[in-house]
Amino acid sequence: MTDSLTVRDNRTGQEYEVPIADGAIRAADLGKIRVDDDNPGLAVYDPGFVNTASCRSSVTYIDGEKGILEYRGYPIEQLAESSSFLEVAYLLIHGALPSKTEYEQWVHDITYHTFVHENIKSFMEGFRYDAHPMGMLMASVGALSTFYPDAVDIHDPANRHIQTVRMIAKMPTLGAWSFRNAQGKPFVYPDNELSYTANFLSMLWKMSEIKYQPDERIVKALDTLFILHADHEQNCSANAVRSVGSSQVDPYSAVAAGVGALYGPLHGGANEAVLRMLKRIGTKDNIPAFIEGVKNGDERLMGFGHRVYKNYDPRARIIKKACDDVFEVTGVNPLLEIAQELEKIALEDEYFVQRKLYPNVDFYSGLIYEALEFPPEMFTVLFAIGRTPGWLAQWNELVQDKEQKIARPKQIYTGGRGLDFTPSSQRWA
Ligand code: CMC
Repeated sequence: MTDSLTVRDNRTGQEYEVPIADGAIRAADLGKIRVDDDNPGLAVYDPGFVNTASCRSSVTYIDGEKGILEYRGYPIEQLAESSSFLEVAYLLIHGALPSKTEYEQWVHDITYHTFVHENIKSFMEGFRYDAHPMGMLMASVGALSTFYPDAVDIHDPANRHIQTVRMIAKMPTLGAWSFRNAQGKPFVYPDNELSYTANFLSMLWKMSEIKYQPDERIVKALDTLFILHADHEQNCSANAVRSVGSSQVDPYSAVAAGVGALYGPLHGGANEAVLRMLKRIGTKDNIPAFIEGVKNGDERLMGFGHRVYKNYDPRARIIKKACDDVFEVTGVNPLLEIAQELEKIALEDEYFVQRKLYPNVDFYSGLIYEALEFPPEMFTVLFAIGRTPGWLAQWNELVQDKEQKIARPKQIYTGGRGLDFTPSSQRWA
């Protein structure tokens, strides 16, 4: 057996030998297949990159058929159970678990970069009272590039490191302030005596008390949710970060693109859409009619289905369990009953079974967020904070990958050709 593909072009009768490496062929090798020198070589048409690898990566492994997710080789279940978000962030960025000293230094560095320049605060105060916090987050992450012009030096590892630390550190500050803006409440400065996640909660909820002390069970649950969202290989937003980053722009601009991609309802915005859907369904009695609507194509069951997972999303399983811990503190979210019934019916229905549609990470996360009193607009901000180390790990990998080039897909042109232009003065006469 040779690791190659023999392709016969029936247009010319010519045969080509295309090497296979790591289960893939190089699209550029297909470009050598052409009818004659006047015609372009064979291209691959793949809207949405359904079967196209855009990079080599050692960050995250997913087996969608088996429902496996690993960061740097470690199963998500073990990390969610026994690690912390900052340790996972270290793992994703550095590729290995930290020693005690490395971890302490990492936590120290992140903690002491949580403050942002006062002008960022003024900038954020300029948004309208009803500004969506994801729009504010995207804009303020992009704005950070103007505060750290040194970030353009992307080929210097030390420089990449400091921007990485800054971004992970400042994301909760920007996220919390986006929230406070909509509430008309004063922005709360970071409290560096608190842990990463407890500090985030303090910036969200602190009012007149001297010190905000969040419930440790809530801190743990939110920290776990951040871990579950920390990376997911080449998803829409990681691809946006890589695509924009491939122009060699600074990392703040690249990550701002990732925040924009995450904002959409088919990606991170799905958790917000799930909650709105559950509220619209309202009672268990309305579920059958809703499911019919989905099957007729009038609706989409938000929080179900995934490009990669054709099995239960392992993150959804862990979140379902985290619901119990949170509801112990907050009381059960009444929408949980509707969600569980919806899941039960969908998992037995032929439409969903046939298409291998299972609950994804967003199906239950919104219920927890709502129980924690986050308005739906904040859900995707929480996803973005968790995903930041993943985006940066992907970006760091991209920058060091000698094989990468500026992202520039091909197209199949379907428009007119060689038309004669008549000036408007004649066309409209
Ligand atoms: N409800 C109803 N039908 C669905 C759903 C759904 N949620 N998802 C997929 N389908 C159907 C789809 O209509 C298609 O049917 P047919 O073959 O008859 O045309 C089939 O299943 C295949 O779907 P697809 O749209 O080709 O699959 P995709 O890989 O392009 O889309 C997806 C993946 C996540 C965008 C999609 O499943 C979806 O829209 N889900 C709802 C939104 C959602 O929950 N997004 C969060 C994803 S997980 C978090 C993240 O990583 O961002």
